[in-house]
Amino acid sequence: MVILIMRKKLLIILLILPALVKAENGYDLWLRYKKISNNSLLDQYKKQITSPVVLGSSQTITIIKTELTQAFSGLTGISYKISSALEKSSAFIAGTVSTSTVISSIITKEELGRIDNEGFIIKTRPGKTIITAKTDIGVMYGIFHFLRLMQTQQSLVDLNIISTPKIKVRILNHWDNLNRTVERGYAGFSIWDWHKLPDLIDKRYVDYARANASIGINSTVLTNVNANAVVLTEPYLEKVKALADLFRPYGIKVYLTARFSAPIEIGKLKTADPVNDTVQLWWKQKVKEVYEMIPDFGGFLVKANSEGQPGPQDYKRTHADGANMLADAVAPFNGIIMWRAFVYSSASNDRFKQAYEEFKPLDGKFRKNVLVQVKNGPIDFQPREPFSPLFGAMAQTPLMMEFQLTQEYLGQGTHLVFEAPLFKEVLHADTYSKGKGSTVTKVIDGSLNDFSLNGIAGVSNIGNDINWCGHPFAQANWYALGRLCWDYNLSSEQIADEWIKQTFTNDPLFVQPVKKIMLQSREALVNYMTPLGLTHIMYNGHHYGPMPWGNTLNRPDWNPVYYHKADAAGVGFDRTAKGTNALAQYAIEVQNEFNDINKCPDEYLLWFHHAAWDHKMHSGRTLWDELCYRYNSGVDSVRAFIKQWYSLKKYIDEDRFKQIDQLLNIQLKDAIWWRNACLLYFQTFSNMPIPPQYEKPGRTLEYYQNIRILYAPGN
Ligand code: GCU
Repeated sequence: MVILIMRKKLLIILLILPALVKAENGYDLWLRYKKISNNSLLDQYKKQITSPVVLGSSQTITIIKTELTQAFSGLTGISYKISSALEKSSAFIAGTVSTSTVISSIITKEELGRIDNEGFIIKTRPGKTIITAKTDIGVMYGIFHFLRLMQTQQSLVDLNIISTPKIKVRILNHWDNLNRTVERGYAGFSIWDWHKLPDLIDKRYVDYARANASIGINSTVLTNVNANAVVLTEPYLEKVKALADLFRPYGIKVYLTARFSAPIEIGKLKTADPVNDTVQLWWKQKVKEVYEMIPDFGGFLVKANSEGQPGPQDYKRTHADGANMLADAVAPFNGIIMWRAFVYSSASNDRFKQAYEEFKPLDGKFRKNVLVQVKNGPIDFQPREPFSPLFGAMAQTPLMMEFQLTQEYLGQGTHLVFEAPLFKEVLHADTYSKGKGSTVTKVIDGSLNDFSLNGIAGVSNIGNDINWCGHPFAQANWYALGRLCWDYNLSSEQIADEWIKQTFTNDPLFVQPVKKIMLQSREALVNYMTPLGLTHIMYNGHHYGPMPWGNTLNRPDWNPVYYHKADAAGVGFDRTAKGTNALAQYAIEVQNEFNDINKCPDEYLLWFHHAAWDHKMHSGRTLWDELCYRYNSGVDSVRAFIKQWYSLKKYIDEDRFKQIDQLLNIQLKDAIWWRNACLLYFQTFSNMPIPPQYEKPGRTLEYYQNIRILYAPGN
């Protein structure tokens, strides 16, 4: 009897189970390949992928076959075998143009001329699909594009896609240390298990390469910019080689950070002076050793004379001297040097100006294989910065963009913030360096100043958390970087749309509202953290939470009060000619945009002006009232996100639903914390009341000033 009841229960459970959405932990990222429920679409797909064949024999081709087997079987629910030879029934044919006359007869010379070695062509006719390229890597990118179309349930009818990447070096910068901690990492420890490499190859390395390949990322810097010379010693190079060998068939090149003082630390030299012959020789030999092990090694990323890192200025040499020495060492092997322009010192009266002051005089002095890597804004990855003036100032030097995927200043591992709108805002900005339309995009892709070497870097947000990025939505920022590097004309909306559909579901009742949340999220964060051009008012050290009163660090340019300059008269940093005149680093048209306090866009007001508390904003409100309005609307946005998210429960698995729900509630708590702490603090200067329509902070300023977060991650 008991057994019978238990059986009955089991039967009921078994019957209910398939109706529930299976729990997911996020490990599969946007490559889940769930069965498509739309039957007519499925019929169309099946016709287009009948008897699939992939031609070629490289490791990349093997990877493609595995991917297709998994994807086609998953998406259609039928098991597929990928053939290596053309059959009569083959509707789906992939391979380089040289692998088959079927392919080469369909693709014209003109079409081929429009793609580079990584580009691809996809053509479909009823019952025929051709995916081709000049190289197997190009075919792989085409395959991932095709699978993206299927995953996002696009029609495969009459496709005529010719696609080639707009940016050459599409690169992740891992700030990962050899002890596996990650500087500004909010997703666990480093995925690189240096201790066990090269003997233990974690499956994650392959999945990492595969995920990057699926979005076109073709380069990775494995180590922290605050570099450790030990990675350049032989045992570590063996480990690097193991990763490079693994990544190669996925089209990914490996780079390392070079510690400028390595010749002293591991080479036992007395100096690291870049004009010293022995030092130059040391680097040449070291580089040769690296290339003997890793023939396609990408090169080095260098942070020098910044935040205590050693560099050429220690020997009274310039950044160009340092970069060129390394560039000469890697040049015979086609390597490149990415030399960072993130420099500042307390000597300058405005940190905003420092990178320009140090680098502008060096324009044209760098070797051809040097890219100067510039952070998107003049300070440091803040929620909103104007574009770095360097983008309009270095016509004779190829500049690469550095974005930060890891959300150091954007709520770290707990806030949902989709960064594509931030990236696009910067790329769209007009430097006017060669007249109207001299956008940052054109500087970065090399078209404005005629450079063929170009790159965009994203400081990685990847760790060993099961879902890779900690916050489930942080994956979208990794995804966005890859997609935008490939084609910076994609809109934030399209990127969000693709990502949501692949990561969660194609159901429009889920996609539309979630997309709205994502697209609003960055502005919401700006509002509850640093509205109207406030900047760098976060907690010191770990940078989690508000600390606008911060004034205890011994370098003024590390203290929040340096950045907002609040006093009885007003708030904001005067960077006009009456102030530090940092605005003069921009073209006159940009200066004109920001110079006049009454015309300056609200978003940038306090970046460039010390505005009176009763300054009239574009809304008609006083500055103080506008500040109260913005802080409150930031909080309200998060409340709305939570409400919206709650209504979407039935569309996705419980695990991810719950995790995101809880994270959104942390985000709300933090938003309220930011709002209350900042308004109470700035109120001590404005002496104005918080307008009655807004919530009153429930605690005193002292309460917020006494909050101590001792162990925030990533520090
Ligand atoms: C920020 C960050 C540091 C990092 C630095 C850099 O200042 O807080 O952790 O090292 O940027 O980009 O070099």
